[in-house]
Amino acid sequence: MKTITLINGDGIGPEISGAVVKIIDAAGLKINWDVQTAGADVIETEGSPLPDRVIESIKKNKIALKAPVTTPIGKGFRSVNVQLRKTLDLYANLRPCKNLPGIETKFDNVDIVVVRENTEDLYAGIERQVDSDTAESIKVITRKASERIAKFAFEYAVKNNRKEVCVVTKANIMKLSDGLFLETYRNVAKNYPQIKNREILVDNLCMQLVQNPSQFDVLVLPNLYGDIVSDLCAGLIGGLGVAQGANIGVDYAVFEPVHGSAPDIKGKNIANPTALLLSAIEMLKYIGESSFADKIEAALFKTLEAGIKTPDLNGSATTEEFADAIISNL
Ligand code: NAI
Repeated sequence: MKTITLINGDGIGPEISGAVVKIIDAAGLKINWDVQTAGADVIETEGSPLPDRVIESIKKNKIALKAPVTTPIGKGFRSVNVQLRKTLDLYANLRPCKNLPGIETKFDNVDIVVVRENTEDLYAGIERQVDSDTAESIKVITRKASERIAKFAFEYAVKNNRKEVCVVTKANIMKLSDGLFLETYRNVAKNYPQIKNREILVDNLCMQLVQNPSQFDVLVLPNLYGDIVSDLCAGLIGGLGVAQGANIGVDYAVFEPVHGSAPDIKGKNIANPTALLLSAIEMLKYIGESSFADKIEAALFKTLEAGIKTPDLNGSATTEEFADAIISNL
């Protein structure tokens, strides 16, 4: 039996991970879940929001499924999510955004893959208070990280029959940092003549995405633009409740939805588990359990097509009712 680290998270995390584990179990796939807690709740007892045992568990099992973990805004501990990605060198954040059956949206031909650099940029966390009225954040872009993320995007395009990889920067203004990201992309692109290249500035990209998203295929972006643009893309396909993601490195992979811990709906049994379920489906494909992945995906699509949806998709099903409907469609 395969052992996989499971981080239930906080906020809506435990509700959606409970639903997803139940669905995978009902599909007949036996997984030994190595459950690890992280976040604010463990600081008091263990002194850190991301204790070493969580990292050790992922290093041992190689794969994790992770529900969201809250990060305090403006003060408090550093993001567990960012720390996890940095510590395990999960350099590629892969966020496919494709229309789902049964979910009506403004555009019906969205099929975009966001490839976000996951380890540096303004997320390096290098900030300082210059004086009481001035604060600085340092944006770090290296050739090494830019090169491996560009390669990841092109390799993904080749393996998944995609036509184009478009690089997103603001290199007209940040000529050195975004300039390096762009220059590195151009060099990597030369090795992939079969894939079309495209360059776009992030502000123009946002406008084009909300007007005509079908023109985009694979996007590769530095960390911050990738974070913002992937939420925008989530909005194109029905919102954060359905946007999946994965953090991939050379040795380890952590599958998690794009969304956060949604404290506004915590404990109400209305959170949509679809984003975490789609992340889990990708995880199952990644570990070679494609037949179970396909079975669960088919049951999810059948459920959505039948109009059984959570309130974020204008439905009236609770998290539990939605999960039970998927199980009955397996
Ligand atoms: P959020 O993604 O948690 O919520 C934004 C909006 O989307 C809220 O109205 C929420 O109710 C809704 N939403 C999100 N997921 C949903 C779901 N599955 N079903 C139905 N509605 C859903 O973003 P927010 O409020 O900015 O962040 C809350 C916390 O989550 C913060 O502490 C943030 O740092 C953390 N966070 C954690 C992430 C992670 O663990 N990977 C990623 C993003 C944010």
